[in-house]
Parts: sequence; C-alpha cells; structure tokens
Amino acid sequence: MNRLKDKVAIITGAANGMGHETAKLFAEEGALVIATDVADGPSTPYGNSNIQFMRHDVTSEADWRSVVSDVVAQHGRIDVLVNNAGIVGSYASIDDFTLEDWNKVIAVDQTSVFLGIREVGPHMRKAGKGSIVNISSVWGITGVSGVPGYQAAKGAVRTLTKNAAITYAKDNVRVNSIHPGIIFTPLVQAQAEELNAAVIAATPLGRAGQPREIAYGTCFLASDEASFVTGAELVIDGGLVAQ
Ligand SMILES: NC(=O)c1ccc[n+]([C@@H]2O[C@H](COP(=O)([O-])OP(=O)(O)OC[C@H]3O[C@@H](n4cnc5c(N)ncnc54)[C@H](O)[C@@H]3O)[C@@H](O)[C@H]2O)c1
Repeated sequence: MNRLKDKVAIITGAANGMGHETAKLFAEEGALVIATDVADGPSTPYGNSNIQFMRHDVTSEADWRSVVSDVVAQHGRIDVLVNNAGIVGSYASIDDFTLEDWNKVIAVDQTSVFLGIREVGPHMRKAGKGSIVNISSVWGITGVSGVPGYQAAKGAVRTLTKNAAITYAKDNVRVNSIHPGIIFTPLVQAQAEELNAAVIAATPLGRAGQPREIAYGTCFLASDEASFVTGAELVIDGGLVAQ
C-alpha cells in the first residue's frame, strides 16, 4: 500500500473512467493526488482525503500554468504527471472528417500532452527525478477505419513520449506511454454497441478491461519500481495488438 508513498501526482481527466480509478489507486498507494478535469468535479466521490480536485482544461496553456504553479506552491514539487484526459472525437472516416473535428481532437488528445510535459518537466528536471505517464491507445499503434484524428493524436503521443524520454533522461525524469485496448469506462459506454462488440470479439482475452487494470500499469510506471523504464510502451489490451 506504499508503492507511491509521499509522491505528489497530477492526473488529468480524473473526473471519470480510468483517470478517476487511477486517482483512487494512487491515493491508496500513499500518493497525494491532484485530480484535474474540465468537468466541475468527480462523477462520484473519490472517498479518499488524499485526492484534491482542480478544474483544468488540458487544451489551455493558461490552465496548465495555473494548475502547475498552484501545485508547486502548495506541495513544493510534482513527482508524477499522468496525461490521461482524452476524447475519441468524431468517428467519421478520413474522407468526411472536418477540420473542426480534427483540430478539436488534436487539441484535447495531443497538444494537451505537449503542454503538460512542457509545463511540468522543468520542475521535475530541477528536482532530478520524476515520472510522466502518457495515456495513448492501441489505436496509437495499429490502424482502423474511422477515428483518423484520434489515431493521429494517439500515435503522436507515442512518439512524443520517446522524444521527452530521451530529452529528460539525463535529469532522471522518466517518460512512458500506456496503450489501453477496450476498457469499460463512460467513453466506451457512449460508443456504438456494435463497435464495442467487434473490438471485444477481436480481443484474445475475450472481454473489455476494467479501469483498475490500466491503473495498475500506470502505478507501476509512476513508482520507483520502474526506475530503469523510460521511453517504453506498455500495452494493456487483452492481447489485441499481439496478433
Ligand atoms: N476506454 C477505453 O477503451 C480507452 C482505450 C484506449 C485509450 N483510452 C484513453 O484513456 C484516457 C481515459 O479515457 P476514459 O475511457 O477513462 O474516458 P472517459 O471519457 O471516461 O474520461 C475522460 C475524462 O477526460 C475529461 N476531459 C475531456 N476533455 C478534457 C479537457 N479538455 N480537459 C480536461 N479533461 C478533459 C473528461 O471530462 C473525462 O472525465 C483517454 O485519453 C482515452 O483516449 C481509453
């Protein structure tokens, strides 16, 4: 229960789904968690006083600056950043994808990760330690038809992770990506049933994952157990991309 003892962790998109569950696991493991989201508060109470909620639109440079400076002012440091907030955006195929839909999904899923790393990174480098975990997707690795904006953004998160890992390695700041397959969250519950059924049918373990199964992977990468892991991709997908 002490894998993240005394670590100060920011988790974005933590009002729902896997961000919410990751906040709970981190707090159970001894972290002080700043759970942020564009929503006004968590969908259900966290039930743990070591989780503090802050409103934060990850597409906003000003919001990033204010969240980071508040956390550093209150707690003196940031040990862990989990760039988790994300949307699927439009499911249209590339032929019908509007520029507006493209710009929206790139802003939430890709630009946010760049901003987060850029704003938090210097504090970690100054401290000579830190762990950044970027939530990409299996769709940042393999192709499907539809969701071209999501695929482009999640693929960019995968390689930006490696860029930051190399850039920050000399300062002992680790940066890794996680690639979930289908995980049972509000995001997936809002998708067409046929789409979810098709992805589950293609998943060798034959089911959707649970948010905690991603949270465990994020906890490992955030913890000192992963002290020699950087620039890596952790696929948690029931075997989907192993085929
Ligand atoms: N659920 C899956 O099957 C799955 C699979 C692969 C990757 N992912 C990724 O995992 C992450 C979490 O997804 P989830 O399934 O828990 O989704 P979710 O919809 O349950 O939760 C996402 C959270 O992000 C927040 N958010 C959206 N836009 C934001 C913004 N501009 N600023 C701040 N917060 C914002 C939402 O309010 C929400 O609370 C996302 O990056 C998603 O792309 C999910």
